[in-house]
Order: sequence, then C-alpha cells, then structure tokens
Amino acid sequence: MKYSLYDIYPSGIFNGYGIDYAKKRFAVLKEIPHFNSILDVGSGPCFLKQWIEENFTHNIEYEAVDIRQDALDLCDCPKYNTIPSNKTYDLACLFGTVTYNIDFETNKNKQLLKDLLIQSKTVSKQILFTVFKDDQLNTISEKRKSQFVFYTKNEIKEMLDELGLKIKNIEKTFRRNVETDVYEYDPWYLSFEYDRFEYFILCESK
Ligand SMILES: C[S@@+](CC[C@H](N)C(=O)[O-])C[C@H]1O[C@@H](n2cnc3c(N)ncnc32)[C@H](O)[C@@H]1O
Repeated sequence: MKYSLYDIYPSGIFNGYGIDYAKKRFAVLKEIPHFNSILDVGSGPCFLKQWIEENFTHNIEYEAVDIRQDALDLCDCPKYNTIPSNKTYDLACLFGTVTYNIDFETNKNKQLLKDLLIQSKTVSKQILFTVFKDDQLNTISEKRKSQFVFYTKNEIKEMLDELGLKIKNIEKTFRRNVETDVYEYDPWYLSFEYDRFEYFILCESK
C-alpha cells in the first residue's frame, strides 16, 4: 500500500493543516534578524508569501519551490520545482516540508530532508526548518505514528553536524537545550498551542 503526496493533499491548495495554523507557525520569522530575500522550500500554495506581505513593511523578495505543480500554479511569484542553482537568498525555509511519511519509508523521507538541507545550504547561509518531535509518540495511535516522520533532538543535532550546519540562537523564543546544544523554538513564549508538536530549528553554515 502506497501513501503519496496526492493522498495527503488532494489538490494544490492543501498544505495539510490550513492557512491559520500555517500563519501561526510563520510568526517565528519575526524573531529572525533582518532578511531581504527568502526561498520557501516546500511552499505548498505560498501562504508564507501572503503572511510576509501582511507582516513586514519592508520589501522581501519571496520565491517558492515545490514538487507539486498544482500548488505552484496557485502562487504569484518566481517558482521552481527544485532548488535553483544560480541564486542566493538571505534565508531558506522548510515549514513542514518533510512531515508526512511518504510511502511509509521513514529512512527515505529522512534522507529527503537531508538532501533538501544540503541543497538549501548552497543557496542560503541561514536555514529554518520544522520537524515533528518524537516525544509525542506515546500519545498517538500506531496508524498516526506510521503516517508522519519524527525526530529526536539528538538525531537533529547529528544530522546538522554531518551537514556542516550549526544551530543558531535567536533571542528569547529559542532556548538552548543543554543536553544536545540544540536551540529549540520555545512554544510557550508566544503560546502557540500547536507548536508543542514540532521543533523549529534555525541553523547556519559553519
Ligand atoms: C505540509 S506542506 C507545507 C506547505 C507550506 N510550507 C506551509 O507551511 O503552508 C509540505 C509541502 O512540501 C512539499 N514537498 C514535499 N517534498 C518536497 C520536495 N522534495 N521538494 C519540494 N517540495 C516538497 C509538498 O508538495 C507540500 O506542498
């Protein structure tokens, strides 16, 4: 039995959780020091572009990457099916890009995130990405466990070490976990009820 992106998102407008939830998560960008350009990797229908226009007064160049053409067709911006090789950006974002356990192949999906981070590193010094926390595994059904990709803090740290990326601190909403040296988005600081399920990781090239 296969489990494809088209089972999860029946059409390009779906991001898996709706625009309101997406916008709550984008608010983490307000904590990142000034940036003028952003590559949204796994953009879906580009809700981030709309959020940026609503929340920043200065001009931010926004470009989108998604493997789903039906999602990109809804976006009014420069858009690509793969990360462009001839451009650079101040920030690359992967909001929920590797969340669903496509075809129930966890290792393959984890490799996909690694590959996207490697490519993102070639176009941007700073990268922000989100993944599901493994610490909710005791509270969800076996079926849901198989449908998503989860990460431990150590896995994230090891992956970033391997990729030559270091975790970057950004003020109060990120706090350093002393055990792993990972800076995590503090879900309670802004009372984001959903974000207790995810790590928000800001990293940069070493
Ligand atoms: C959960 S949605 C998130 C959409 C958007 N970032 C948001 O927060 O609203 C994940 C998106 O990542 C895209 N995606 C998955 N694998 C990808 C890949 N290898 N390269 C580019 N996009 C990918 C999917 O097509 C989907 O649109």
